[in-house]
Amino acid sequence: MLKEILREYEAYRLEQYDMLKQREAEVLAALPELAGLRQSLVSSLAQKARSLILNPQETHEEEEAQDRISEIKQKEKELLLANGYPENYLTLHYRCPDCRDTGYVGELIKEKCSCLIQQLVERSYRYSELSGLDKENFDTFDADVFPDLPLPGTNLTQKEYMKQLKNVLWKYQEEYPHNSKKNLLFTGKTGLGKTFLLNCLAKAILDKGGTVLKITSYNLFEHLFRSGFSDSEAEPLMIKESIFKVDALIIDDLGTETRRNNFTAEELFNILNERYLQRKHTFLSTNLSLADLREYYSDRVTSRLFDVQNTMIIRFQGRDIRLKRTR
Ligand SMILES: Nc1ncnc2c1ncn2[C@@H]1O[C@H](COP(=O)(O)OP(=O)(O)OP(=O)(O)O)[C@@H](O)[C@H]1O
Ligand SMILES: [Mg+2]
Repeated sequence: MLKEILREYEAYRLEQYDMLKQREAEVLAALPELAGLRQSLVSSLAQKARSLILNPQETHEEEEAQDRISEIKQKEKELLLANGYPENYLTLHYRCPDCRDTGYVGELIKEKCSCLIQQLVERSYRYSELSGLDKENFDTFDADVFPDLPLPGTNLTQKEYMKQLKNVLWKYQEEYPHNSKKNLLFTGKTGLGKTFLLNCLAKAILDKGGTVLKITSYNLFEHLFRSGFSDSEAEPLMIKESIFKVDALIIDDLGTETRRNNFTAEELFNILNERYLQRKHTFLSTNLSLADLREYYSDRVTSRLFDVQNTMIIRFQGRDIRLKRTR
């Protein structure tokens, strides 16, 4: 999988390089002055390299060459603009400026670029639950799907409550990634818009360049369980890696996973704890009440989940909006 993606990155780079060569040929044919500029650029670069090798102590010559290089580049830009070309017409275009489409960042220690991690997340994850984000996001959020009925215990209607909640989460994504509380826990019965709002957050964070893995609790624990005895398979391992690496991990429908005694609680604790230590975001939704959660998982899990220093617990209440529509 990684190899496949890197091959694609390389193909893209080669394609961009070919296109640059074509643009160069085109401009050279139209603007013969460019050839002269290019010629002096090459000799200045050569001079800079020579002085770097021969006189590494003597920086004067090198600086001079560098000044000339900048000057030539500036002239080239002006020439392009004066002739109606965009000023970046003769530079390579990158999809990701951080890694220049190589997939790796860092000088001495090479690390996977966040664009590569997101590619791995999306592909290694067959059920890609990030697919519906074009339909469920902050732009398509529609408060009118919620009834105008009063919510017990508040002086708001369900619709007003959801509008306010949307605003709270909109602010949250504006502050992302500097939020003081890294976890969100959505609790509430079925059909109240929990998954929809998780999708809004997922899209917003992806748009900000963060990496996101959104997965149902059922699928998450199936993967983890199976990876326990099939570690020869690269795929589940990749998911296991992403669980700890992504900027935002979104676990939907906590409580619907197959219960495997201590396994589920232990794995969940590991995930929450490790991500807590790394100060990474984890968002969860569940139909379980807080009391149910306590009963389902270990104290270690619930003390992480209910830690108000790091978790914003959001209660969803009211009428199931799926029922209204099918009626
Ligand atoms: N703000 C919204 N704007 C438009 N449609 C919405 C909104 N919130 C929810 N919906 C739609 O209502 C339906 C139910 O919402 P959602 O799936 O988010 O509920 P849920 O709380 O996750 O339910 P469950 O607990 O069963 O998973 C979905 O079809 C969803 O697209
Ligand atoms: Mg849901």
